Amino acid sequence: MPDMVTTDVSPKTALVAALGRRSIVLVGMMGAGKSSVGRRLAVRLDIPFVDADTQIEEAAHMTIPDIFERFGEGEFRALERRVIARRLDHGPQVLATGGGAFINPDTRTAISRNGISLWLNADLDVLLRRVKRRSDRPLLKTDDPGETLRRLMEERYPVYAEADIIIHSRDVPHDKIVDEIVASLCGHLGVTAPARAPQAERSP
Ligand code: S3P
Repeated sequence: MPDMVTTDVSPKTALVAALGRRSIVLVGMMGAGKSSVGRRLAVRLDIPFVDADTQIEEAAHMTIPDIFERFGEGEFRALERRVIARRLDHGPQVLATGGGAFINPDTRTAISRNGISLWLNADLDVLLRRVKRRSDRPLLKTDDPGETLRRLMEERYPVYAEADIIIHSRDVPHDKIVDEIVASLCGHLGVTAPARAPQAERSP
């Protein structure tokens, strides 16, 4: 009778190996959960987490609202494009990007060369509830942030839809979203190894 052995290839190990030096790049609207889900995904896969907005602030030595105020959105977008292009050389990692980043065609091309794009797609009511918790988003300093979000969604969703993977972000525990992301990544990368799957070993 053949001995039963277990493979030592967990989905995490197989997935990170299949990723190689590519980054998992989270895209989507403000409030979609890119940073909070991204952080947990990175812990799950045991790879670094990087927030592009934080990198931009470090590069500029000022906050995003200050960049918008002093230099305008155009300069912010130029810096965002450069910072993300540079950062994509450092995979494997989970890279959370600001809501407008994927709209830039050069950034989309750079991501498709060096990463796997993953759109966290959320409904307007979920986004609105979440963005109300913070007041530091320059684009939402309008008389009607709900209407602004709705308009941005209309413009951006067809572009986000070009992402390699689409996950519905909603008000469920973050770990559930991470489970769904890992399953989709496994599918996308052709990784099927189940955790410590039993395997029959033939006797010589
Ligand atoms: C922006 C989203 C923000 C930040 C900047 C512009 C956008 O990041 O990059 O305020 O254009 O949607 P988050 O999506 O992380 O809030």
